[in-house]
Amino acid sequence: MQSSSTLIQSFLYLALITISLYLLQFFILSDRLTVSHHKITHKKHPHLPLRFNSDGTFKILQVADMHYGTGLTRCRDVLSSEFERCSDHNTTLFLKRMIDAEKPDFIAFTGDNIFGSSTNDAAESLFKAFGPAMDSRLPWAAVLGNHDQESTMTREELMLFISLMDYSLSQPNPLTQDPTDPTKQQIMTEIDGFGNYDLRVWGPPGSHLANQTIFNLFFLDSGDRAYVDGFKTYGWIKESQLRWLRGASKGHNQGNHQSQDIPSLAFFHIPIPEIRSGPFREIFGEYREHVACSIVNSGVLQTLVSMGDVKAVFLGHDHLNDFCGNLNGIWFCYGGGFGYHGYGRAGWSRRGRVILDLMDIIKLIFVTGLPFCQGLCCPCGERLWQFSLLSPFDMIMD
Ligand SMILES: *[C@@H]1O[C@H](CO)[C@@H](O)[C@H](O)[C@H]1NC(C)=O
Ligand SMILES: *[C@@H]1O[C@H](CO)[C@@H](O)[C@H](O)[C@H]1NC(C)=O
Repeated sequence: MQSSSTLIQSFLYLALITISLYLLQFFILSDRLTVSHHKITHKKHPHLPLRFNSDGTFKILQVADMHYGTGLTRCRDVLSSEFERCSDHNTTLFLKRMIDAEKPDFIAFTGDNIFGSSTNDAAESLFKAFGPAMDSRLPWAAVLGNHDQESTMTREELMLFISLMDYSLSQPNPLTQDPTDPTKQQIMTEIDGFGNYDLRVWGPPGSHLANQTIFNLFFLDSGDRAYVDGFKTYGWIKESQLRWLRGASKGHNQGNHQSQDIPSLAFFHIPIPEIRSGPFREIFGEYREHVACSIVNSGVLQTLVSMGDVKAVFLGHDHLNDFCGNLNGIWFCYGGGFGYHGYGRAGWSRRGRVILDLMDIIKLIFVTGLPFCQGLCCPCGERLWQFSLLSPFDMIMD
């Protein structure tokens, strides 16, 4: 593969530079130059498996469209009185504040994490953008949007890099059995895109569900841009990805003795065409902006409906939309724009979404939308709206 040979080349190149520098220091500069010896650090892993808390809750913070630049990039669409003192740093502060205020169990980043065209160093931007998540030591995962790859890394390199960051549960793609060695696993190659994977959530510790998956999170790559019949359009989820999704869903539910499939949520960046065309059965939250989706309809909605286990999908891309709408029984929820360098509306708060899965005696799952706090002085945690997402489902407990 082209990119793996580039990787090997880069590695050899780096090794050559390191050796040259070492020799230079050893033979020529040894009394004038000091090279400090940093300790090699390994990736820090979160405590696994993901599981519900003993009070039956599992809280996810969805962060859509951070649009992170260099760290110093100026804010877009803020009041002129706010402009002078506003940069990516405010996105960092906001993320820290959201994590502190909501204390989620998991953070899901739904793409356009970095704004490629505003940075010359994707790695540095990723470190800064995901910094508060890594500092929090909470498990987190990300998918890509359409802007992440616009600087120094391809989509493949981005997902590989993100998967190696501290506390990240992101994967470049799903793992499959290695055909040459059944004891080993390898990253699936016959799938489009990068960042297709699923994460299982186990039952509360000490309960009779402690050793089984009772909830599942799917992540999909909705691509960036593409030309279709001469028209430039947004990316879409391909048949190979839907095939994997159907297989994974079947795999989870085989041998599941519950009366219902394991409920799942899905996360990806670009909305599907039905979100533009509707009609929605029900809608909560604000529909403020034209839906920017692909002209290609690859049948994501039909696939999800036929699978039956995905109850809600969480999207990004259209920053001013923060609604949840019901299409054919599945909820499609926008995250609302999170980052200050992404477009927004002056005087209108940047926002994120809190998804609270409540597995209590009444067996309902709630999704809660939050308006956020701009800057440092606004009250956090005010609920924008709240509603019951699922009809009671009886797979849990008893
Ligand atoms: C779950 O697994 C642990 C460790 O193997 C065991 O001690 C515990 O009894 C199991 N719980 C249930 C409900 O099966
Ligand atoms: C951005 O952060 C600075 C420094 O903390 C703060 O003074 C300013 O009000 C923030 N701006 C916005 C729009 O939140």
